[in-house]
Amino acid sequence: MDVSAMLEQYAYPETTPWLRANMIASLDGGIQYQGSTSALGYAGDWALMQRLRTLADVVIMGATTVREYGSYPKEARKLAIVSRSLRFDFDGPLFTEAPAPPVVITCGAAPAGRLREAEKRAEVMVCGTDSTDMGMALRQLGDRGYKRQLCEGGPVVLAQIAAAGWLHELCLTLSPVITAGDAARVLDGPAVDMQRMELCHAIQDENYLYLRYRMAQG
Ligand SMILES: NC(=O)c1ccc[n+]([C@@H]2O[C@H](COP(=O)([O-])OP(=O)(O)OC[C@H]3O[C@@H](n4cnc5c(N)ncnc54)[C@H](OP(=O)(O)O)[C@@H]3O)[C@@H](O)[C@H]2O)c1
Repeated sequence: MDVSAMLEQYAYPETTPWLRANMIASLDGGIQYQGSTSALGYAGDWALMQRLRTLADVVIMGATTVREYGSYPKEARKLAIVSRSLRFDFDGPLFTEAPAPPVVITCGAAPAGRLREAEKRAEVMVCGTDSTDMGMALRQLGDRGYKRQLCEGGPVVLAQIAAAGWLHELCLTLSPVITAGDAARVLDGPAVDMQRMELCHAIQDENYLYLRYRMAQG
């Protein structure tokens, strides 16, 4: 599959800010197999993920996903990380080798010492008191010019984005495996008001399926 040829089908709409989520799941809805997300993917899906980053003004990830990923997603113009604990190595490559200082999205409950460390290495946004208010954070990112937003999870952050009514689009790769087990679903959080989505496209790549859904109009 020529991913470059597919990219025009992923153009962001004129209406911004617009948040696209990009996730992969097994046929039975799990986002990992034996603790590994990459076990579900393959080269085509990986290439698509990298190219989607290039279309976005900002790539947003939850802290757990960032810690697992380990390095700066080099295709991203800007990385935004959601975290309360701020448990990061601010002298590590994620921050020191970033092409642009990452945005750290946190809340008033963040430890004061780590907040000061974060401010030396990142653009810090404090949105909310005990917990980051995701709607406020995404609106503020938009106000700062990061209007084409791409969230790569994880499911805990995505569930809050949906709860805030901010999940404008979901790109979901269906991986041709069945796993059962206790892996999280694509969104991991309390139930939200049912949000209807409409299918923009379904692209087959060998046994994988790239689904692109957007919020239903009206
Ligand atoms: N299949 C896929 O496409 C896919 C995509 C992404 C990730 N994953 C997998 O999903 C797993 C991680 O996902 P996850 O859902 O457990 O975690 P996550 O969403 O990546 O990160 C959760 C963390 O984000 C911070 N956070 C979330 N909501 C917050 C709020 N309201 N206020 C302040 N901080 C907040 C907290 O960080 P602190 O702990 O720092 O406070 C929290 O522990 C990984 O194993 C990863 O491999 C799969």
